Amino acid sequence: MNDSLTITRPDDWHLHLRQGRMLERVVAASAQVFGRALIMPNTDPPILSGLDAGYYKQEILRATEKWGKFKPIMTIKLTMNTTARMIHEAAEAGVKAVKLYPTGVTTNSQDGVDLGRLKEMAENLVFDAMADHDMVLCIHAEHPLQPVLEREPYVIPFINALLGWAPRLQRIVIEHVSTERMAQFVASHSDRLAATVTAHHLYLTLDDLLGEELKPHYFCKPVVKTSSDQSSLWWYLLHSDNFFFGSDSAPHALHKKEACSCAAGAFTAPILLPLLAHMFEQHDALDTLEEFVSHRGADFYGMERNYDTITLVKNNHPFVVEYNEGNDELPRPMPLRNGETIYWHVAR
Ligand code: NCD
Ligand code: ZN
Ligand code: ZN
Repeated sequence: MNDSLTITRPDDWHLHLRQGRMLERVVAASAQVFGRALIMPNTDPPILSGLDAGYYKQEILRATEKWGKFKPIMTIKLTMNTTARMIHEAAEAGVKAVKLYPTGVTTNSQDGVDLGRLKEMAENLVFDAMADHDMVLCIHAEHPLQPVLEREPYVIPFINALLGWAPRLQRIVIEHVSTERMAQFVASHSDRLAATVTAHHLYLTLDDLLGEELKPHYFCKPVVKTSSDQSSLWWYLLHSDNFFFGSDSAPHALHKKEACSCAAGAFTAPILLPLLAHMFEQHDALDTLEEFVSHRGADFYGMERNYDTITLVKNNHPFVVEYNEGNDELPRPMPLRNGETIYWHVAR
């Protein structure tokens, strides 16, 4: 007999869809499963204003029409040129969150924020404008100039200071949390901070990335960490309501991943729910999966939970990820670890 699990339709609170042909290629994997997704603004060109977000939303809606229900939730990227007025206009255009990338820390972040100038931004009322509209500030919390494994904890003092400089800002998300120290910091400020957790940070460690042969499809920012960091992520998500799911599915053309200089980002969208069900089952935590992927994020963002459901089925046939080997322009979904087989599927 098959095992099956029916849960409220999930949402993805951190998703890269890109634009143009890439968007058309990758969006089905998300739109067929998730009710909503928070769409990251680090496109090229970037999404910097309410107007940009409006056009981008239309592009996404055109590409997802055939799946009807999928709702993109739009963000804009914070730069050193973002003004309080731009935040007000974005909020009025329906933008729900503002994304802070420290300069140069990840894909398309050259125009990001200088962490040393957060106080000045607060004095310019940029964060107050977000608070006026109850917007969420989402942070890629890594310090670009520190050693790669230390980048995340190095940002903690900056965020601590920001909590003081922007006292009215009530909802800040630390995106794709990867270390015990940051998870602990988020949990200790659970009145104002939350964290998204990706499937790949729950699944992979540094040893999977580079312990044997280097696996470019496992390379992302923040870099996956040690198994003790990973155990902490599991502990916090199993015990704390303000840790919820954001995939950070980040597609790049194959030739950008399988290259001397490999782009950061794991394209996980096609495998997310099977992989999550598999991992939660291994952690004897299938009963927390729905909260993590379908409830907590919506509650944090102050949106209603989805009304409909999806069913996950475990049967005897392995879940097979399709990918277009040989076509350099297509992204390749993140492969499983050697020898690993997943039997969970999303029922259609
Ligand atoms: C993301 C991307 O490719 O846009 N890459 C990544 O490694 N996570 C950007 C980001 O979320 O940092
Ligand atoms: Zn990021
Ligand atoms: Zn991301």
